[in-house]
Amino acid sequence: MGKSKVLVVGGTGYIGRRIVKASLAEGHETYVLQRPEIGVDIEKLETLLSFKRQGASLNEGSFNDHKSLVEAVKQVDVVICTISGVHFRSHNLLLQLKLVDAIKEAGNVKRFLPSEFGMDPTLMGHALELGRVPFDEKMAVRKAIEEANIPFTYVVANCFAGYFAGNVSQFERFTPPKGKVFLYGDGKVKGLDLAWQEVVGHFYHIFYEGCLTNFEIREGGEEASHLYPQVEYTRMEDYLKVYV
Ligand SMILES: NC(=O)c1ccc[n+]([C@@H]2O[C@H](COP(=O)([O-])OP(=O)(O)OC[C@H]3O[C@@H](n4cnc5c(N)ncnc54)[C@H](OP(=O)(O)O)[C@@H]3O)[C@@H](O)[C@H]2O)c1
Repeated sequence: MGKSKVLVVGGTGYIGRRIVKASLAEGHETYVLQRPEIGVDIEKLETLLSFKRQGASLNEGSFNDHKSLVEAVKQVDVVICTISGVHFRSHNLLLQLKLVDAIKEAGNVKRFLPSEFGMDPTLMGHALELGRVPFDEKMAVRKAIEEANIPFTYVVANCFAGYFAGNVSQFERFTPPKGKVFLYGDGKVKGLDLAWQEVVGHFYHIFYEGCLTNFEIREGGEEASHLYPQVEYTRMEDYLKVYV
């Protein structure tokens, strides 16, 4: 496989850290955006320095400084953005419109992967409030990318096991519940705070509607196991053993 120069934007995040690691492991020349706004966040700084020790280059750049973004993307062939898009963590998907502008101006980027990595937003036009906001914003970013004629790949990862498997989809924890399990949809819950309302909306689409399984991959799409047959997938039974 050919090697690329890859810039990861949002590299210290949940997905970003894994993408930086994978890019280095695949032998790509890997760059990570270092935002001055991280200020005194020592965890982020240490994560960035650990990337550097593993062979990545750190590129200073800020979403508040268009020129710095243009300079950062000018040095690479591929830009992967993993900026946050989940309300209960933080949520900044529309900042990517600035990245699209920078990529358009730089003119050299061969492929852009925006921050997607979830349910396919094209299938979620009917999604419930408040959970629909990330889908709407991901669609706005797709529109900007396509209008700017930037070559793209959209990675639809549906749901990550780390969020849904270990906790058997129980709220407020990521480890298996001890003692009791809530069965959703028994009609007894009177109200939820806004953050959980968003999550419940997602659960409704996932578990009741089956939005992650009841669809066909359409033209232009490709199933990951066809693209990467060499990847060994972990079965749920094995995945859950880590919690025992
Ligand atoms: N399929 C799923 O189950 C699933 C689960 C979670 C997320 N996702 C999707 O994956 C993508 C990434 O989510 P994540 O959970 O990995 O995100 P995250 O860890 O919450 O944040 C990722 C990065 O976003 C950047 N960021 C946050 N606030 C910013 C701001 N104000 N200005 C500029 N950059 C900012 C930071 O980059 P720095 O490193 O530069 O500080 C941060 O490390 C989203 O599109 C989300 O919808 C999918």
